[in-house]
Amino acid sequence: MKSPLRILHLEDDPNDAELVQAMLSSECMVCDVTLVDNRADFISSIETCGFDLILADYSLPSFDGLSALEIARGKCPDLPFILISGTLGEELAIESLKSGATDYILKDRLSRLVPAVNRALREIDEKAERIRLEEQLFQARKMEAIGRFVGGIVHDFSNVLMVIKGFAGMLEDKMGVDNKLKDMVKRIVSASETGSKLAQDLLLFGGKKTIKPTAVNLNQMVLGSVEFLSKVMRENIGIKIVPSEEELTVMADAAQIERILMNLATNARDAMPDGGCLKISTGQVALDDDFVRAHGYGRAGAFAVIYVSDNGIGMDKETREKIFEPFFTTKGAGKGTGLGLSIIYEIIRQHDGYIVVQSEVGKGSTFNIYFPLEKVGR
Ligand SMILES: Nc1ncnc2c1ncn2[C@@H]1O[C@H](COP(=O)(O)OP(=O)(O)OP(=O)(O)O)[C@@H](O)[C@H]1O
Ligand SMILES: [Mg+2]
Repeated sequence: MKSPLRILHLEDDPNDAELVQAMLSSECMVCDVTLVDNRADFISSIETCGFDLILADYSLPSFDGLSALEIARGKCPDLPFILISGTLGEELAIESLKSGATDYILKDRLSRLVPAVNRALREIDEKAERIRLEEQLFQARKMEAIGRFVGGIVHDFSNVLMVIKGFAGMLEDKMGVDNKLKDMVKRIVSASETGSKLAQDLLLFGGKKTIKPTAVNLNQMVLGSVEFLSKVMRENIGIKIVPSEEELTVMADAAQIERILMNLATNARDAMPDGGCLKISTGQVALDDDFVRAHGYGRAGAFAVIYVSDNGIGMDKETREKIFEPFFTTKGAGKGTGLGLSIIYEIIRQHDGYIVVQSEVGKGSTFNIYFPLEKVGR
């Protein structure tokens, strides 16, 4: 349970308010109570929406519990609302439940208050967990459907590309060195190679395991990345690498880690049109069961982390929530495929790892990439 429990209490009688608080603290509930006794204060308090629970007296001199309930349901629909009354008859009690009250308590039966509060809070937690699981299931089903769709077409698509590449290659071989058309044929070969690579990437979404893990020294890896990363950066962007003091060994596909860094660096570059700094550092953390549950796969334990941060334009919440979805891009037609991060996500998942983003508009972005730690050394 949250502690302190933030309660908005609508009550005009100070003795009753005190009694309710005494009842809660007698059961060791640590509460932070905001007491209001009129409509205006109730509305201005609820607008902060920073409460865990509302307790409301049924009848007040200039206001009443059912009107308070209507306001609460409009402003914070999921906030538990418990009516407390000395007079509530059966019909009004039913009406209050129909209008969305979580429970009602009679003042002469105040011992029911703590169990009612506990039940209301438990139900909120269960609802949040249910929504989270439904979202995970929806995501998993969506990825499965995309995987099946993509897997179905990639095979045929690759065959077509093989034919294009094969015949273009033969044509190139048959052309004399000074043939003016040779450059064009070379472009066909190169475009069909790019197409084949893209087709292989798409197979990732079909759940095909494509990584080839070996023991990788993560610090050496990030130090060695400067050379290839500087090729995609502009001169107004600096690169800073800060490896951890300990040596971090992970079982990973080194070529895929390079690819992850390359993709993240390219995104960082695009997010810093006026220049800035790309920082890559490493470290180690312990991930707990809550973290694993929130991601819906993998297991808790010791992980190596690569932090990739930029001080670019950053992202708002809506963008942040969509960036790992295939084909999501804000870069406009012809500029981005929206596949970069979704491919990275699948590669990292195949390593039993995780990727997490922290970003705010105007404050840059940091991507944390977690790989299960094989061993730590000095
Ligand atoms: N470092 C970043 N800063 C701000 N926004 C970012 C950053 N990285 C990713 N994004 C946002 O996430 C979106 C998706 O990124 P993703 O790499 O998947 O696709 P893309 O870069 O748009 O296209 P491409 O397939 O060519 O990589 C981007 O269009 C951008 O809106
Ligand atoms: Mg990208």
